[in-house]
Amino acid sequence: MLSRDQVVAYAADGYLALPGFLDPGTCAALIERAEQIAAEQAPAGPRSVFSTQAQARRSDAWFLESGDQVRCFFEEEAFAADGSLQAAPARAINKIGHALHDREPVFAAASYDPRLAEIAGQIGMREPLAVQSMAIFKQPGIGGEVGCHQDATFLFTAPLSVVGFWVALEDATRDNGCLWVAPGGQRGPLRRRFCRDGVGGVRFAELDPTPLPGPSQLQALPVRAGTLVLLHGLLPHWSGANRSPRRRLAYSLHCVEADADYPADNWLQRGASLPFRRLAAGPPLARSGALV
Ligand code: FE2
Repeated sequence: MLSRDQVVAYAADGYLALPGFLDPGTCAALIERAEQIAAEQAPAGPRSVFSTQAQARRSDAWFLESGDQVRCFFEEEAFAADGSLQAAPARAINKIGHALHDREPVFAAASYDPRLAEIAGQIGMREPLAVQSMAIFKQPGIGGEVGCHQDATFLFTAPLSVVGFWVALEDATRDNGCLWVAPGGQRGPLRRRFCRDGVGGVRFAELDPTPLPGPSQLQALPVRAGTLVLLHGLLPHWSGANRSPRRRLAYSLHCVEADADYPADNWLQRGASLPFRRLAAGPPLARSGALV
């Protein structure tokens, strides 16, 4: 899947964009299912907000128990000062997470695509486990900023191993909140960990005081729909708020090494009934069409 030059570029920069990875039909099918889930589930679920600005404070049980579920989370700006929702629920969703790849067949097909396993192998993963997936809406007008972070903050392993596979399902531009990256920034230390605090909440544990890159050190990464972006787990990246009239829906899958230690205080945990699966293995389908 990757040329030698692309493997070298990923190692140097900590990210790599692969235009045309998903065809328009696959993007459309993923978008359609994400919209369906939002329309069906958002009105019935709790008004749980996802905010990267106040993540430790805003993380509730709906979030902390979503590691093996498909759940909707709202945009902070979707609510008026009095708490009422200002848009239809499906237009107010920040993201759906975090087990789309194991519970939703169209997302499973995209996630356990043998091409992804091959790419993971080419960038040095030995036995990638698919641990987290998200459909990130970045809604027009109200799509929130995702502050500069390293994915290993949220999916810590020892040794560090997380890799993000981020696919633009719609064009991502400077106007609608494309990714911004700090090329080479993966050579810096992990700054902090997002962990369970042992009393039902989460906290950030500070590991290294080195500041994350500021705006002048970040580079915009506008991509067309269908582009896959590989993100090293230590690469600092950011995306701005979407004040444009165009949505920027993306699908993100994170993998870690099967033989790395996955701590019990990582925020994302799964029950025994739905263990993490190897990327290459692929999921069996239940008769109901749901994945087992
Ligand atoms: Fe990220």
